[in-house]
Amino acid sequence: MPSGETVTSASSSFWMKPLGRLMVLSSLCCVISGYAERDRVNDLMSRYPLIDGHNDLALQLRRFHNNRLSQIDLHNISKVSTDINRLQVGHVQAQMFAAYVICGAQDKDAVRLALEQIDVVRRMCTEYQDFVLVTSAQELKNAKMRHKIACLISVEGGHAIDSSLPALRMFYQIGVRSMSLTHTCNTPWAESSSKLHNVYQRQNNGLTNFGKAVVEEMNRLGMIVDLSHSSWDTASAALNHSKAPVIFSHSSSFSICNHERNVPDWLLHDLKKKRGLIMVNLHSQFISCRDEANISRVADHFDHIKKMVGAESIGIGGDYEGAVSFPQGLEDVSKYPDLILELLRRNWTENELADVLRKNFLRVFEEVERVRDQLVVNRPSEVQISVEEVRNPCRLVLRPPNPRGSFESPSSTAQHEPKALLIIATVLLLSSLLMIE
Ligand SMILES: *[C@@H]1O[C@H](CO)[C@@H](O)[C@H](O)[C@H]1NC(C)=O
Ligand SMILES: *[C@@H]1O[C@H](CO)[C@@H](O)[C@H](O)[C@H]1NC(C)=O
Ligand SMILES: *[C@@H]1O[C@H](CO)[C@@H](O)[C@H](O)[C@H]1NC(C)=O
Ligand SMILES: *[C@@H]1O[C@H](CO)[C@@H](O)[C@H](O)[C@H]1NC(C)=O
Repeated sequence: MPSGETVTSASSSFWMKPLGRLMVLSSLCCVISGYAERDRVNDLMSRYPLIDGHNDLALQLRRFHNNRLSQIDLHNISKVSTDINRLQVGHVQAQMFAAYVICGAQDKDAVRLALEQIDVVRRMCTEYQDFVLVTSAQELKNAKMRHKIACLISVEGGHAIDSSLPALRMFYQIGVRSMSLTHTCNTPWAESSSKLHNVYQRQNNGLTNFGKAVVEEMNRLGMIVDLSHSSWDTASAALNHSKAPVIFSHSSSFSICNHERNVPDWLLHDLKKKRGLIMVNLHSQFISCRDEANISRVADHFDHIKKMVGAESIGIGGDYEGAVSFPQGLEDVSKYPDLILELLRRNWTENELADVLRKNFLRVFEEVERVRDQLVVNRPSEVQISVEEVRNPCRLVLRPPNPRGSFESPSSTAQHEPKALLIIATVLLLSSLLMIE
């Protein structure tokens, strides 16, 4: 038997050459310690499964399936990097799903599109037993006990509220617990980090008075303010104005890769002062400023941010489905353990990693809820944006009734006459009554 002969000759050479034996032994050691490291990662991530800050699966469900959930099985979806099977392999226990609205919809049907994305996330997370929709830190923790993947909903792009605090409040009512102030376009009240869309340019770039009212109302409601995609000026102003900690749900370090979507060190320090969180984005463009990247470069972002502001300010916001290229070895949501393995190899402690994986996010979420509880006596804000700030052809301008009490409607003249007659009749009746007396 040729194969038997091979084994014999291999084993004889093993016993005969001490140097070869040593080499085989040492590589065996690596294999064993490799396994031990993997076990350690799996054990750590079982105890502290990931809460991830950003995933655009809902966007892909729209693009590929027009939100028809009946066409697919969420356990195993082709063409995407996120499904239930891979979330489970990746130890992802909670996912903030973005209800993303394209900037082209600003001042058009952004509110409808946001509602449709929220609807598909809600359906996803209620029709599948493996998911559960959560709206509080406690529910998120309960979901872990029940071995379920918790879904949080975040609105991506402040244009989705169409400059309306009542719209913001209604998003909260249907389960939204976070909103990024902008996407790649300015809103009438906040500035984007991107110059892609030439809209709502202003002199004062931070937050307008209405923008501050949005942040205040989010604080009052208990909605997490997300500064990913905001300009640094807007982020700084929102940080200063917010009573609760804020997050960057999917941004990385500007010092490591100088992309406008990343966060500079000075802003990281302000974030730390507010006990906020930067959830590192894995998109290759934000990691290496190129189309390709590797796990080592990703870990450089973690190391740098830790050096600047400590592990207590760091989370993970993968941005899967929201970008095209991901680092080699981190191609989909099942690969998170490989990132944790790299950080363990770089001497991150288990406590630091437990913070990064979930404890930091839970701390921020709980603090946002505490601020909401403190503000419970405040009434819903009635601040309205001025007509001048939002003038656009699609916005209906409702005018108050004119002094004679008529409405500007096609039927107003028709309704006017009987009303006037009634008034005249009343006056006549009253005066005749007075004369009798
Ligand atoms: C997922 O579906 C594909 C076919 O679409 C199949 O080849 C693959 O084995 C499935 N994977 C799992 C984990 O079920
Ligand atoms: C926020 O506060 C910091 C420190 O107090 C200050 O330096 C910065 O200018 C403020 N940012 C804005 C936009 O007001
Ligand atoms: C990872 O990518 C960086 C460039 O971003 C490169 O310098 C480094 O050699 C790569 N490391 C590995 C292990 O491939
Ligand atoms: C991790 O710590 C060990 C032991 O203290 C040290 O030898 C090693 O160089 C460290 N590795 C890194 C990447 O810092």
